[in-house]
Amino acid sequence: MNITLQKPLILRCFLISFFLSLTFFYLFLHLLSPQQPRHSITTKDLRIRPGYTSYDTYIQRQLNKTLNPKLRKIWTTCDWNRKIPVFARFFEDLKDKNLLHNASKALCIGARVGQEVEALRRIGVTDSVGMDLVPYPPLVVKGDFHNQPFRGGTFDFEFSNVFDHALYPERFVGEIERTLKPNGVCVLHVALSTRADKYSANDLYTVKPLVALFKNSVLVHVRPVDGFGLDTEVAFRKK
Ligand SMILES: *[C@@H]1O[C@H](CO)[C@@H](O)[C@H](O)[C@H]1NC(C)=O
Ligand SMILES: *[C@@H]1O[C@H](CO)[C@@H](O)[C@H](O)[C@H]1NC(C)=O
Repeated sequence: MNITLQKPLILRCFLISFFLSLTFFYLFLHLLSPQQPRHSITTKDLRIRPGYTSYDTYIQRQLNKTLNPKLRKIWTTCDWNRKIPVFARFFEDLKDKNLLHNASKALCIGARVGQEVEALRRIGVTDSVGMDLVPYPPLVVKGDFHNQPFRGGTFDFEFSNVFDHALYPERFVGEIERTLKPNGVCVLHVALSTRADKYSANDLYTVKPLVALFKNSVLVHVRPVDGFGLDTEVAFRKK
């Protein structure tokens, strides 16, 4: 009698402590560790910059640049007239290559005050919009490129020159592939031979990691470009 009672008691104690420790382990894994960005995709050719202790500090740092009054003033004045014609030429060229059309529904990711959106609209791609952490109506709506505020299959064309700002490049690309329509085109301007600014979250050394990240797309072209410190244009078409 004693023995048969004791066994289940020991077993019960064991099970209780086992499940308690499992619970703490689970809490540790799922509540604590997401605060620490997991730099899982760091490779030789794509390195996530260290020093971001949480997603919040990362967003704060990005906002610090985006909200900088001096920079915003420059972006909307001298930069405005200097950059729009250059963006317009890039986009005209993509039209010539049949990667962009007047009827394309277009998104510019990380567009800040929307110079590239203005360029698209001026060359006749009227259904275009930008997205950034800070909105700039009417050209730019609020959105995080790690979690785009759009339904799947929304856009025919997406452009970005802020890949270096992505803390999670796999999410940056995953969101592009999610919100592009089938056969939709994504064009990125990236820096391979120069290091981007101090607000960058990653450094890219070749296009290889990008091609690997675009799992549901085919590579259309890679070519040199002179895009405000960015030296390479990479175009993909979603399958
Ligand atoms: C953002 O800027 C403010 C004021 O300039 C500064 O106090 C803060 O530490 C900055 N945050 C980050 C994450 O750089
Ligand atoms: C596209 O729009 C531009 C600007 O409105 C116009 O000049 C051009 O002819 C249009 N292209 C086509 C193919 O309709």
